[in-house]
Amino acid sequence: MTTTLWSGRFDGAPDAAAFDFGASFRFDRRLFEDDVTGSRAWARALGRAGILPADEAQRFDAALGAIFSRADTQQDFFTANDEDVHSFVERLLVESLGDSGRRLHTGRSRNEQVSVDLRLYLKRRIPLVQRAVAGVVQALADQADAAGDALMPSYTHFRPAQPVLVAHFLLSHAAPLVRDVERFAGAIREADALPLGSGAIAGTAYAIDVEALARDLGFARVVDNSMDASSDRDFAATFLYASALTMVHLSRLAEDVIILCGDEHRFFELSDALSTGSSMMPQKKNPDPLELVRGKTGRTIGQLVAMLTTLKGLPTGYNKDLQEDKEAVFGAEDTLAGCLPVVRSVVHGLTLNRERAAAAASGLLLATDVADYLVGRGLPFRRAHEVVGGLVRKLVAEHRDFPSLSMEEWRAASDRFEPDIRDRITPAVSVAAKMTPQSTAPAAVRSRLANVRKWLTAQGLC
Ligand code: ARG
Repeated sequence: MTTTLWSGRFDGAPDAAAFDFGASFRFDRRLFEDDVTGSRAWARALGRAGILPADEAQRFDAALGAIFSRADTQQDFFTANDEDVHSFVERLLVESLGDSGRRLHTGRSRNEQVSVDLRLYLKRRIPLVQRAVAGVVQALADQADAAGDALMPSYTHFRPAQPVLVAHFLLSHAAPLVRDVERFAGAIREADALPLGSGAIAGTAYAIDVEALARDLGFARVVDNSMDASSDRDFAATFLYASALTMVHLSRLAEDVIILCGDEHRFFELSDALSTGSSMMPQKKNPDPLELVRGKTGRTIGQLVAMLTTLKGLPTGYNKDLQEDKEAVFGAEDTLAGCLPVVRSVVHGLTLNRERAAAAASGLLLATDVADYLVGRGLPFRRAHEVVGGLVRKLVAEHRDFPSLSMEEWRAASDRFEPDIRDRITPAVSVAAKMTPQSTAPAAVRSRLANVRKWLTAQGLC
């Protein structure tokens, strides 16, 4: 028969199906390490407060340490029917120390315990996610390096807009991922508060030195309010938001790569090892891994929405609804852990088709440069826009391009055009003409790439 931490209040055994429905050990065993860490520190805090004799506190600490080691060696360690990870650890402690093990829970509630566990978990797991995100940034930076001054078109409204460096395009995907790593750092800061000492909701009637306990567990601070602490999962929601936004960024990167590797563009070639074939059409080379990344983004957004929806209607204080936080957090973490290395490999394996990308960066994309030329000769921009618009209309109708215009045709459009207009209408001159640090000017892109390299070094990657 199953025993619970709360059976004293009840006449008989719980309904088996309802017990299974409410049990969380199936997924919260993932907090085992953190539950042991938190419980060991709690035992030490009880000892420091004189609530447990020093030698007993030490015995608790040691017994919990031994329980932790068993997880590595004992095959069927987690095949138990406990209600949750907290009950599981406590049962093992009682099995190891006898009845005195039951004193560990003095002054402590599972409501704060589950919060401390999840906070500890996120504090140790988010850095791994950050590292994997930085790995994608690194692959993008490497490709940007290799691309040098190669050119491609940029798009707005998915119509060719202006020439850019391929490196600029690649770094445009690195920038949001760098922000994601910083956003995850914010999620760590939010989780970095000790909830122990909050009791079930009103605080604890034992003189626990929570500041010392926070230091012992590596928390930066203690929570402000015990009532808030028992129902606060903002730190989980923040983690889910950072995860969802990272997946959105990966999805957009995936979408760009899918398009730009497609037959219509072929600016890049996907590595064979990261593509799949069709069972029917022999010519196909499909970007399945990227499609899966794009597809999985929906679940991560769903996990964020599920968490926020769970939180929005809760009365203050712990409610069992909060148990839903863990599957959302673990699910988002698993999705990221699956997607990030794949995206990194795909980016790493891209081959740039320089000629094709550069060829697509030429032509009417240079219309803004022609207008800028007229502005340089004193024409107001709005007038210049009109003049060049007329020229574009003519060229489109005649299936022609700027370089095919004779000097007479240029002059017919505006007498401010001089023969040097011919040298201005190349993609290389267009990108070189950009003046701002965030622009596609080669010097600006090189300097931004150097910044990304510096950032990667600071992340312990390069
Ligand atoms: N499994 C529970 C959870 O995830 C642990 C806290 C249980 N607290 C309670 N009062 N039933 O939220």
